[in-house]
Amino acid sequence: MRSLGLVHLIPPLFSIHLALAVSIPFRGYLSDSTHLSKRNNLTGISVTNGGNIIYGASINLGGNNFSVVLDTGSADLWVAGSVSSTQDTGKGVSVAYAVGNVQGNINLATLTFDDYSVNNQAYILVQDSSSFSPTLQSNGFQGLIGLGFDAESIVRNKLGKGAGDTPLSRIFQLNKTTQNFVSIQLNRAKDPSDPITGQITISEVISGYENVTSQPKLYLKDAFMDSSNQHWAVVTDNNGVIGPGGDDISIESIVPHVSGGKMVAVLDSGFTFSQVPRKMSDAIYGRVQGANYSTTEGIWKVPCTQNLSLSFVFGGVTVPIHPLDIVSNDLDASDPSGLCDGAFQPISTAFSMLGHYDMILGMNALRNMYTLFDYGNFVADTSNDQGDPYVQLLPLTDPTSALADFAKVRQNGTSSSSSNILLPASQESHSPVSATEKKQHLEGAVARNWPYIFVGCLAFVLSVLGCCVYACCCRKRRKGGARPFTRNPYQAIHEPPPPPMHMRPINSGGQYADPYRPRP
Ligand SMILES: *[C@@H]1O[C@H](CO)[C@@H](O)[C@H](O)[C@H]1NC(C)=O
Ligand SMILES: *[C@@H]1O[C@H](CO)[C@@H](O)[C@H](O)[C@H]1NC(C)=O
Ligand SMILES: *[C@@H]1O[C@H](CO)[C@@H](O)[C@H](O)[C@H]1NC(C)=O
Ligand SMILES: *[C@@H]1O[C@H](CO)[C@@H](O)[C@H](O)[C@H]1NC(C)=O
Ligand SMILES: *[C@@H]1O[C@H](CO)[C@@H](O)[C@H](O)[C@H]1NC(C)=O
Ligand SMILES: *[C@@H]1O[C@H](CO)[C@@H](O)[C@H](O)[C@H]1NC(C)=O
Ligand SMILES: *[C@@H]1O[C@H](CO)[C@@H](O)[C@H](O)[C@H]1NC(C)=O
Repeated sequence: MRSLGLVHLIPPLFSIHLALAVSIPFRGYLSDSTHLSKRNNLTGISVTNGGNIIYGASINLGGNNFSVVLDTGSADLWVAGSVSSTQDTGKGVSVAYAVGNVQGNINLATLTFDDYSVNNQAYILVQDSSSFSPTLQSNGFQGLIGLGFDAESIVRNKLGKGAGDTPLSRIFQLNKTTQNFVSIQLNRAKDPSDPITGQITISEVISGYENVTSQPKLYLKDAFMDSSNQHWAVVTDNNGVIGPGGDDISIESIVPHVSGGKMVAVLDSGFTFSQVPRKMSDAIYGRVQGANYSTTEGIWKVPCTQNLSLSFVFGGVTVPIHPLDIVSNDLDASDPSGLCDGAFQPISTAFSMLGHYDMILGMNALRNMYTLFDYGNFVADTSNDQGDPYVQLLPLTDPTSALADFAKVRQNGTSSSSSNILLPASQESHSPVSATEKKQHLEGAVARNWPYIFVGCLAFVLSVLGCCVYACCCRKRRKGGARPFTRNPYQAIHEPPPPPMHMRPINSGGQYADPYRPRP
């Protein structure tokens, strides 16, 4: 059964798909909230690190403190426990995450998050969180706060615009002129010289890191297929993934409007390990001597002493990834085989194959960047000039000192040995693709290309029909008494079906869950 660390798949890809059906909210809502005065000298609140596999922060709800997981991949707040002062709406909802699910009634209570307080915040009061990842409780967390958009929120879908708005939207509505952004910095456990303190801020930048606001703005609209598909997605540069040995390991994007070697990455703090295309994962780990792909766990197993390099490039900014975040012992600290986890894990389900994004950058990638998430005009009822949502990234990892840290922690300070030299590209191993996955790829491709396939079939049918009609007319004319063909054959054909983005996900979340733990 599942043990520790199934958290690497906490986040609700479900909600990414849920968002497909909902349109952008722009309705006003009369807020009954108050704005607490900001403390003078503090930027944000501290983020708790549960062993690099789960990150959370403290909130107060209805008079009680809760430690909640920070999840940029979902948009609902839930807590399990008792809330002293709360009002039950009697409306029950259920939220399915990539791992587990929760259900409970929507309640209203006063929420305090950072220095902000809002009345009647809608949230889910969960009676029993045992159907959620046990890693949550084992790390002392009692709930989860989704930092995604209103359009993704299941609570808001049930309760309606305004009353059901997400905690952050409600906070942003307190002062309509304040810029709608959150910034997050995640620290790294087991790193001998990590200078980072984990912090989350609302509408302010962590002091010392103000530069983030002058970084290029990565607009979400460049990544989206359409405006109803809202998640924190950004587009890499052309050749924007640089693997071991300095090789470009970008893959052709499956997102239809993204081309030229660019790829769409979802930034999701709910994933412990990043999910990347299989070819990319193979390019990172397939040339490591002694590495082996575990089909039961769905992950590359790599000698813990292997230093690797990897960077992502966004808007001309290169973000190097710490070698400790590429070959991870966060889940298998005492693996007797001396093998660690390749933390850029192959995406193995059709969930990701509908063409909305190519990869999900989780905690192991986010630790390497100070990230500013600007919600812009996706927040209803704030100033109209907030503009399109965007992300700004400030790289945090210096590759040279990171390598020295890696040598200290994993190589007894002796840096590289001959066994750390990569095999030539020609000897790269490839992880096997299961029959199920092949089928899912095919289904994904069909779903993505449905309009083209439809048009192709239509053209074929029309040409066949045309030939028949032509042949028929000719014959009739030859027989004399030709009758004009009055009906336009085009009318017989139905309107094209809705585009693929409105299709339901092909696969349920089940398979996504915890793919690299042996299944019972
Ligand atoms: C703000 O913090 C700095 C150190 O971070 C400290 O030197 C300064 O005294 C603080 N200011 C106030 C008003 O607390
Ligand atoms: C709740 O959190 C606040 C702020 O972190 C703290 O001052 C307070 O003591 C906490 N209350 C309880 C009951 O733990
Ligand atoms: C709202 O924020 C702006 C700056 O973003 C500030 O100047 C103004 O005083 C704030 N208004 C209130 C009511 O707090
Ligand atoms: C940040 O700002 C400092 C000076 O304020 C500058 O020296 C540095 O190059 C900037 N860094 C980036 C990444 O823009
Ligand atoms: C992986 O392990 C299997 C079984 O131990 C072995 O047959 C195979 O050669 C290994 N592959 C690599 C690339 O080391
Ligand atoms: C590992 O680190 C050494 C320096 O310590 C470096 O020479 C070598 O290229 C690195 N190996 C990889 C695969 O990045
Ligand atoms: C590091 O040194 C310790 C003891 O000195 C030894 O047990 C361990 O195997 C060494 N590890 C590596 C990766 O060389």
